[in-house]
Amino acid sequence: MNELLPQNQIDAFRAKAAAIAHPHELIVDALRAVQSHYGWVPDAGVDLVATLLGVLPVEVEEVATFYDKIFRRPVGKRVIHLCDSICCWANGGEAIAAHLQTALGIGFGETTTDGVFTLLPTCCLGACGDAPAMMVGLTTHGRLTAEKIDTILAGYRAEVVK
Ligand code: FES
Repeated sequence: MNELLPQNQIDAFRAKAAAIAHPHELIVDALRAVQSHYGWVPDAGVDLVATLLGVLPVEVEEVATFYDKIFRRPVGKRVIHLCDSICCWANGGEAIAAHLQTALGIGFGETTTDGVFTLLPTCCLGACGDAPAMMVGLTTHGRLTAEKIDTILAGYRAEVVK
């Protein structure tokens, strides 16, 4: 058992990589698998993905650092990506950003002391019609207000504490 990835997934990625001409196309999936299992992608995770796919570690690192949804540092149990693009800013995004930071007691790039939330800025989430918007994990929340944010955060906290 590899703590970075379960053995069945290691075997599956090896088999897939051997069966295709360009195993580089599996890098994102493999990084996401490591992140899903381990919580984030340490250097050893980058090396593991490179070994499994038969590519260079630097090629995996390039992908890992390009996407802001791949975490190269430890993060909280729920990662909040607050949209930092034009439609959200034009619809009260600045106040929403301030409220989130106050409600969480952290700034952007930080994790709450209880390890529940990490707050990150991100570019357009494709939810401009529902601006201002944020993603928590894989779920998008739009038409944010301070009250709605408080309800959303309370819901995730309750989910994590269960
Ligand atoms: S600008 Fe925020 S979702 Fe598009």
